[in-house]
Amino acid sequence: MVRPTLLGRPAIRHALAVTVCVYASAAVFSLAAQVPQLRSMTDGVYSAAQAARGQQVYQVQCGECHGMAMEGTTGPPLVGDSFLSNWSGRPLANLIDKIEKTMPFNQPVSLSRQQAADLAAYILQAGKFPAGQAELTEATLAQVAFPTVRTLPAPAASGAATFLPPPEGNLAELMRAIAFPAANTIFNLQIRDPAAQPKKSPASSPFDYVEWGSSVYPGWLAVDQAAIAITETAPLFLTPGRRCQNGRPVPVDRADWKQYVAALVEVGKLAHQTSRARNYEAFVDISEKLNDACADCHKVYRDKGGTEGSGAIRCQ
Ligand code: HEC
Ligand code: HEC
Repeated sequence: MVRPTLLGRPAIRHALAVTVCVYASAAVFSLAAQVPQLRSMTDGVYSAAQAARGQQVYQVQCGECHGMAMEGTTGPPLVGDSFLSNWSGRPLANLIDKIEKTMPFNQPVSLSRQQAADLAAYILQAGKFPAGQAELTEATLAQVAFPTVRTLPAPAASGAATFLPPPEGNLAELMRAIAFPAANTIFNLQIRDPAAQPKKSPASSPFDYVEWGSSVYPGWLAVDQAAIAITETAPLFLTPGRRCQNGRPVPVDRADWKQYVAALVEVGKLAHQTSRARNYEAFVDISEKLNDACADCHKVYRDKGGTEGSGAIRCQ
């Protein structure tokens, strides 16, 4: 389902608020009616036989990327602190969904739900959660969550980092969420002058929020925003406690890492000034500077490890 992300009309906001209230009170009632028995992960939620079945599949289909002892190789580790903090407080069902829907990374959606559950049992066993008598089933799943891990943020290296909220995504996700689309907005200027973009005709009937949303900030406004996004979010690469996809901590304390981030902030500011001056010609140079600012860091910390999704030696 596509939901409009830009809510322009108060009517829609209110409509959403109402739906949320209805769900909230429904949840209260059903909780009161069912009183689910919550179980701890340490209560023996899977059986040893199930874990053994999981192990069979693991050795053939997973070990290559996650390591035979789940220590992580090209894929992230599936035991230890970084794994447990990724899954802190999340329902066990999410882990099974993740395996069923996205793994093996190179051949997703090839496992059955049962196999995914068996694999989860094996992962729990490797993580030293005790086995019990009964197997992990859909019914037990709904009641079990990973223990909540409190991760103390590493001591902040710079004053600014002290006030940053804890990370939500890994580094690659953050890059894809902000740096990638923002940089591409700027790179696209090489192909198209934002002032020359045809004005989209306003909403057709029936009114389409998605189409409308994509046309609200056209041309140079989109470039201003991209420049601001790059400048203001580059410091998020310094957030303590963030990990790279492979489970390694982002090297936020390294002097060269901080320099690469600072260099990106500088290019972002220059892009913003230039965008506000609506100086199209100057963007040839800015595109190049921006590309260098991304690539200088990638050469050292990203691309040594290989292509997307791989790279055990990334962030090292
Ligand atoms: C070709 C390499 C590859 C194979 C094979 C593979 N994985 Fe992965 N796996 C990855 C990569 C890369 C990631 C990180 C990206 C992601 O989360 O999607 C990952 C992430 C995961 C995660 C999430 C880890 C976390 O901390 O969030 C789990 C769980 C997982 N894999 C389980 C499995 C299981 C079980 C198998 C075998 C059925 C498997 N993987 C096979 C590469 C692989
Ligand atoms: C300070 C270093 C640094 C800077 C600056 C930087 N990146 Fe990254 N980037 C990385 C690292 C390291 C990764 C791998 C992260 C991981 O595997 O979790 C990455 C991953 C990515 C990815 C995900 C693709 C993949 O292979 O996993 C994209 C997209 C990306 N960067 C785009 C950009 C863009 C665009 C810029 C410039 C606007 C930029 N980055 C600036 C370090 C940097």
